[in-house]
Amino acid sequence: MDTTTISKVFSGKDIFPMLGTDYVEFYVSNAKQAAYFYQVAFGFNLVAYKGLETGSKDITSYVLQQGKVRFVLTATLNPDDPIGEHVRKHGDGVKVLAIQVENAKEAYETALERGAKSAGAYQVLKDEFGEVCIASIHTYGETIHTFVERKNYNGPFMPGFQAKQSLMKIDPVGFEFIDHCVGNVELGEMDKWVDFYKKVMGFDLLLTFDDKDISTEYTALMSKVVSNGTGRIKFPINEPAKGKKKSQIEEYLDFYHSAGVQHVALATNDIITTITKLRRNGVEFLYVPDNYYDDLKDRVGEINEDIEQLKALNILVDRDDEGYLLQLFTKPVQDRPTVFFEIIQRVGAQSFGKGNFKALFESIEREQELRGTL
Ligand code: FE2
Repeated sequence: MDTTTISKVFSGKDIFPMLGTDYVEFYVSNAKQAAYFYQVAFGFNLVAYKGLETGSKDITSYVLQQGKVRFVLTATLNPDDPIGEHVRKHGDGVKVLAIQVENAKEAYETALERGAKSAGAYQVLKDEFGEVCIASIHTYGETIHTFVERKNYNGPFMPGFQAKQSLMKIDPVGFEFIDHCVGNVELGEMDKWVDFYKKVMGFDLLLTFDDKDISTEYTALMSKVVSNGTGRIKFPINEPAKGKKKSQIEEYLDFYHSAGVQHVALATNDIITTITKLRRNGVEFLYVPDNYYDDLKDRVGEINEDIEQLKALNILVDRDDEGYLLQLFTKPVQDRPTVFFEIIQRVGAQSFGKGNFKALFESIEREQELRGTL
């Protein structure tokens, strides 16, 4: 069966206005060292901090920014609080996908009315820079969405944080914004979470990939993509499908010990420069064999980039009706084979690189084989 395009045109309407991703918060075991990694390897600037020195007795958080991409890295100072428990169970991982909204109270109340479970009551946080209003709801696994209203705030991040700058010279790699955030859920759970986003947040189902679209000789998965009305927030949701061997989604679920965020896709306008810098900084990427490039021109037609250069950097290309896209995936960025990043440059294409799925999943299987988890 071919990929079903359910809706190609964004409705333009949200049941409550959503402006985009506000931040992605990772719970990590050592925020200080994680912050160094994202500054040096991924070219993020440190912009804000809270910790013992700022009066935060229990939690340390570093806020990093590049373009519109904002990461918060949070660790606990206590042995037995929910952050420590999260890290013990899941390893380093994404806890919060924060959504910037025009009105956090309205977003939260609407979501609750439509069936969401609260993960944090509505709060107005104030300091000398103004106020930020927040409230949170649960989504898959132990992941939450925090609604953030910051139109009356001009501080470095949020009340409770102080401005802090990187100690070294940062060389940004060209990340502009978050293109999409992908969740892995358990077998049989994908439709439930698609319905959740449709019902609670008014998202539309954009695309469906079944196990025939996404399978190799050994493993398979299924995926559905939901989006808000403006198309700024896209959440693909994967579930494992039956194959001869263990799929990458099952491997993730085994090591994360629940559903959770699989990857965050970071958009760049110049993927060649971005990947060149990331490789120089020691970021590890999935490997696709040289023969991937043999018939690339026949598959994708004319592109602006030099194919030899793409081959040297191992960048993948796919085309749809509207244009083409270039993409590449990092290896997992922590010890457990869980969260990773996608680097993506869209040249018209609004799709997700279906033409690359097979090559990519074979590449992931080679990594799984090395890990003994295929
Ligand atoms: Fe992706």
